[in-house]
Amino acid sequence: MNILVVGGAGFIGSHMVKRLLVDHHNVIVIDNLSKGFRDAVLCDSFFEVDIIDKVATGKVFANHSIDVVFHFASFIEVGESVKFPEKYFKNNFEATRSLLDIMVQFQVKQFVFSSTAAVFGNPEYSPIDEAHPKHPINPYGESKLMVEKMLEEFDKEYGLKSVSLRYFNAAGADPQGELGERHNPETHLIPLVLQAASGRRDAISIFGDDYDTPDGTCIRDYIHITDLADAHIRAIEYLRKGNQSAAFNLGNGKGFSVREIIDAAENVTNKKIPIRLHGRRAGDPATLVADAKLANKVLGWKPEFTNIRDIIQHAWNWENKFPW
Ligand SMILES: NC(=O)c1ccc[n+]([C@@H]2O[C@H](COP(=O)([O-])OP(=O)(O)OC[C@H]3O[C@@H](n4cnc5c(N)ncnc54)[C@H](O)[C@@H]3O)[C@@H](O)[C@H]2O)c1
Repeated sequence: MNILVVGGAGFIGSHMVKRLLVDHHNVIVIDNLSKGFRDAVLCDSFFEVDIIDKVATGKVFANHSIDVVFHFASFIEVGESVKFPEKYFKNNFEATRSLLDIMVQFQVKQFVFSSTAAVFGNPEYSPIDEAHPKHPINPYGESKLMVEKMLEEFDKEYGLKSVSLRYFNAAGADPQGELGERHNPETHLIPLVLQAASGRRDAISIFGDDYDTPDGTCIRDYIHITDLADAHIRAIEYLRKGNQSAAFNLGNGKGFSVREIIDAAENVTNKKIPIRLHGRRAGDPATLVADAKLANKVLGWKPEFTNIRDIIQHAWNWENKFPW
């Protein structure tokens, strides 16, 4: 298949490209490199294009017979989205609308969208399944929910079939050590903890240790990047069988607290990790864990890397390659 990976120079997109190449697909990448890295793109067909530019995006579609689009491109920082909401609605919603317009123009009808747990807002129960109410509490989550809703309308109007995959926390790195996470700024717990272990950061901050959880710190659900890539492959198989558009929550179904992550990281790295304790951050729920039963039932998806040590070990191997 000819598969277009939008945002293929970023953390998750670059790992997806690698998996697609292993599966012998013809991969084309679009990325504006606002956050991604050219050297993370392992395929030959790369176009430095912003998808809000319909002319440039249209040229890529005109020159390649695209069968499927994977869409990873967006801004991802919750705090920044609160400060600069317009930036998020433009890049995450408007730019996606522009991409979908081009897909309709070129009659490309299969789309896999990177959505997020942030569409749900504060959990009303845990683990969170697909039926959980969707009340995002920040512009990042809102912009993603708007895309999910737009996809429903594009299906009704144009027959564009989609799967929205709502990741909880993507983590880990390519087990072969070729790729890994390099967000700038980094806001995700595991790479931050490992930067504190390697000395690139003087300490890891814990925001609140008085939550209603066994050790008082927040609990999150971490999913290995390789398992995420596998879910995308299954999403495409699902669509190619002629199934209806759908959305699935993706996670390990088992949460780990901030302290458990730090303990596991000390164990993997064999280093003492300095901790700085702060008060709670606004908008941080105590627990965010996915119920991924639907993805298991419908897509046959089951995460392989359920042991947090493996996830941290792969991320640590990558951290040790710094500077990349
Ligand atoms: N990382 C996570 O834990 C996580 C969790 C839930 C959802 N997601 C979603 O997964 C997707 C990928 O996340 P990531 O961690 O790989 O982020 P990332 O920032 O590493 O990758 C995003 C890529 O998209 C590119 N991009 C952004 N806007 C673009 C545009 N307008 N045109 C072309 N390219 C553009 C960036 O340059 C970057 O390479 C995002 O949509 C994010 O919302 C990520």
